[in-house]
Amino acid sequence: MSNPSILILPGDGIGPEVMAQVTRIIDWYGNKRDLAFDVSTDLVGGAAYDAHGVPLHDDTMARAMQVDAVLLGAVGGPKYDDLDFSVKPERGLLRLRKEMDLFSNLRPAQCFDALADFSSLKKDIVAGLDIMIVRELTSGVYFGEPRGIFNEGNERVGINTQRYTESEIERVARSAFELAMARGKKLCSMEKANVMESGVLWREVVTRVHADYPEVELSHMYADNGAMQLVRAPKQFDVIVTDNLFGDILSDCAAMLTGSLGMLPSASLGAPMDNGRPRAMYEPVHGSAPDITGQSKANPIACILSFAMALRYSFDQGAEADRLEAAIETVLADGLRTADLLGEDGVTPVSTSGMGDAILAALDASL
Ligand code: NAD
Ligand code: IPM
Ligand code: MN
Repeated sequence: MSNPSILILPGDGIGPEVMAQVTRIIDWYGNKRDLAFDVSTDLVGGAAYDAHGVPLHDDTMARAMQVDAVLLGAVGGPKYDDLDFSVKPERGLLRLRKEMDLFSNLRPAQCFDALADFSSLKKDIVAGLDIMIVRELTSGVYFGEPRGIFNEGNERVGINTQRYTESEIERVARSAFELAMARGKKLCSMEKANVMESGVLWREVVTRVHADYPEVELSHMYADNGAMQLVRAPKQFDVIVTDNLFGDILSDCAAMLTGSLGMLPSASLGAPMDNGRPRAMYEPVHGSAPDITGQSKANPIACILSFAMALRYSFDQGAEADRLEAAIETVLADGLRTADLLGEDGVTPVSTSGMGDAILAALDASL
C-alpha cells in the first residue's frame, strides 16, 4: 500500500518558519515510527501571488483535492494589503476551504498545566481547560451574496450577507454533536437569534438535530454573552458550535485562555473521501505574524499540534497524536518557552527551531 499523502502549503510570514519544524517531525515519524508520508509542497497566499499572480494556482487546488490531508502554515502580510480583493492572500485560503467543502472547523483550546500561569486570566480559571470550538467554515457572511462595494447615491456602500441554509447548519451541528458524544456530552450553540433571522434558523435546526443525540446536554447562548462567558468561566463549556464569523472571533478569544495564539491548532474537515477519511486541512489558528517574521521567534507549537490533529483525524494514529502532544507537554513542563510565552520572569526564550529541537528530543525520549 502506498504511504498516506500530505500536501504542505507553508504560505507567508512565519508560515514557512513554523512549517519547517513540522517537516522535521513528519520525518521523525518516518524514521523512528515506520510511519512514512508522501509529502509534497506548494505555494499559497502571497507566495503564490508573487509566483503566479493568483493566491492559489488551479494546479495547487487540484493537488489539494487529491491528497489525504493538507497542512497549511499561514497567509497574508502587509505587502499584500492593497491588492485587489480577488487576489488577496486570504482568498487562497478561503478558496481551499470552499472547494474542499471543509464545513466543520475544529478549534480546540487546551490549557497545558505548565502554561496556566501564563494565561491573561487567573490560573484557577484556566487550569485544566479543555474545550472544543466547532466553527462553520464554508458559508455565512464570509461567502454570502450579495457582497461588494457599490455606489448608492453620492456615496458608497459596503455589503456582506449572512446566509445559512438548513442543510449547512444541520451538517455542522451533527459534527459538533458527534464530537460532544466522544467528549463530555455537552454542547453549547452560539448565535444571535435575538437580532438575526439566520440565528433563529440556526437555533431551530440545532434543536431539531438534538433529537438524534438525546444523551448530549444542549444549551443555546447569544454569541456576545458567549464571548463574555468564555473569559468569565471557560470551563463551563465542553463543545461550542457557532457560525463562521462568530467562530473566527471566539476562537481567537479562546486562544488567550491557553496562553498564546501560538498554541492553537485547528482541523478543517469535510465529507468522507473514497478512503472513508474526511477531506481535511490542518492549520494553526494564528496568522502570518508580520511583526515577528524572520526573527526566529515564532512559536511552532500551534502548527505542530495541527499535525497531531492530522495524525488523529486523517491517519487513524490516535496513539501517535497522544505521543506528540505528550512530548509538547514535557517540553513546556521543562520550562522551554518561545518569546510569546514569556512573562517578566527573565527566562531566556528559545528560537523556533530550538523549540523544534526540544520536541524532537522529547519524542526520542518517548520511545
Ligand atoms: P496574527 O495571528 O498573524 O498575529 C497576531 C499577534 O499574535 C501578533 O502579535 C503575532 O506576532 C502573534 N502571533 C501569532 N502567531 C504567533 C506564533 N506562532 N508565535 C508567536 N506569536 C504569534 O494576526 P494579524 O496580525 O491580525 O494578521 C496578520 C496577517 O495574517 C493578516 O494578513 C491576516 O489576514 C493573516 N491571517 C492569516 C491566518 C491564516 O492564514 N489562517 C489567520 C489569521 C490572520
Ligand atoms: C482564520 C483567519 C482567516 C479567517 C483569514 C485569514 C481568512 O483569520 O483562519 O482564523 O478569517 O477565517
Ligand atoms: Mn481568525
